[in-house]
Amino acid sequence: MTEVQKYIKDNKDRFLEELLGLLKIPSVSADPKYKKDVQTTAEFIEKSLTSAGCNHVKIYPTKGHPIVYGEHIIDKKLPTVLVYGHYDVQPPDPLELWESPPFEPVIKKTKIHPQGAIFARGSCDDKGQVYMHIKAFEAMVKTKQLHCNVKFMIEGEEERGSSNLGTFCSEYKEMLKCNVVLISDTSVLANDIPSITVGLRGLSYVEVEVTGPNKDLHSGVYGGAVANPVQILCDMLASLKDKNKKITIPGFYDDVLVVSAKERKAMNMAPFDKKHYMKNLDVEDTIGEKGYTVLEQTSIRPTLEINGMWGGYTGEGAKTVLPSKAHAKISMRLVPNQKSDKITKLFKKYFESIAPKGVKVKVTPHHGGEAAVTPSDTPEYLAAAMAMKTTYGKEPIPVRGGGSIPIVALFEKVLKVKTVLMGFGLDSDDIHSPNEHYGLFHFYKRIETIPYFYENYSKLKR
Ligand code: BES
Ligand code: MN
Ligand code: MN
Repeated sequence: MTEVQKYIKDNKDRFLEELLGLLKIPSVSADPKYKKDVQTTAEFIEKSLTSAGCNHVKIYPTKGHPIVYGEHIIDKKLPTVLVYGHYDVQPPDPLELWESPPFEPVIKKTKIHPQGAIFARGSCDDKGQVYMHIKAFEAMVKTKQLHCNVKFMIEGEEERGSSNLGTFCSEYKEMLKCNVVLISDTSVLANDIPSITVGLRGLSYVEVEVTGPNKDLHSGVYGGAVANPVQILCDMLASLKDKNKKITIPGFYDDVLVVSAKERKAMNMAPFDKKHYMKNLDVEDTIGEKGYTVLEQTSIRPTLEINGMWGGYTGEGAKTVLPSKAHAKISMRLVPNQKSDKITKLFKKYFESIAPKGVKVKVTPHHGGEAAVTPSDTPEYLAAAMAMKTTYGKEPIPVRGGGSIPIVALFEKVLKVKTVLMGFGLDSDDIHSPNEHYGLFHFYKRIETIPYFYENYSKLKR
């Protein structure tokens, strides 16, 4: 056992206690009613970074939620790793689907986590993974094994689009200077199939509002004549895809980077059991874009999804009403070369153009971000791959992910550095869903993996 491993083992219970404390604070960034809790969470992170061995730890206020920064500079001549993560979480709704309250963490065994998993919002995305980094760093510092510089930037607005992080990065470019960004906010294929994410999709998120009559009407007295905005919204949304599930917005696919047949073949070699996938979700089949496999549909192809829609009466019982308004929230996942702003514009133009007379349509853009591809042939990637091989016993597979972390493209643009996405979640950990959880055995195993990254990286860069 190495000194670092011994430190981790000796402090195992404390690490867990501390993480449970962090998970108890409801840092929901999207909802202003949690503003104070988000601040408290930032202060928690600030204290953790300080006690782990960081200097110049500071909470930087932004127009939205604060960014926590801390650094440990050993020698300016040594390479520097910037660890990025987020302490904010998605809203926990719908609450009634949680088996235990989202901000009262409990440990329960599951089939794939026989040693137990922590059930709480943020346990995997991303508080659990951020905490592993802080603890791995602490173990390195306290045992004097760290031989590179480390900077931490942990933000509180990732789940709502990191809207103030771009400005922060430009403003503090000097302070954030580094050789590589390390992020643990993605997943591995399985606990026994390690992988490293080498691509993320971009995002364009819009909200639409369809207005019919100027007030809610009696559905018997007016229905049949006056346009029903809920019905019209459904028709309009339905027409955004054709029978092959291709998106019908003109120009939508124009900039899509075509992936070579060779790369597609390699991608489909990744272990994936469609039957198991469907069984887990209790669906009989998948219905995606024709001509592509599930792995491709969820990584190299752009998509359009309705995230929520509402309008009219949705309470108990029945109310006969012809609503005045209907709404929907829509996300489009983008792939390399598509530009978020352009796609948002194309969507707006097309959606407005298909509105029938008799209704008014309003399209409001929310956040967006660009796709990213990260290299798999750099010393940084190799350091991560070797670290995972050491603790998992298997070489990780490079895979493209379906989710988005818009800041990765921004780091490249502003800080001119590449990112390594050494994430440790599982797609089955239910991030953004009720009963989000994070396997305990792997919590410790991953804390052991991170120090190997630093060690390998320091050696490779020497
Ligand atoms: N950690 C996720 C992104 C992710 C999850 C990437 C799993 C790959 C695999 C991140 O917190 C997230 O949820 N991002 C948002 C985008 C953001 C702009 C709101 C997403 O992907 O929906
Ligand atoms: Mn995340
Ligand atoms: Mn998330």
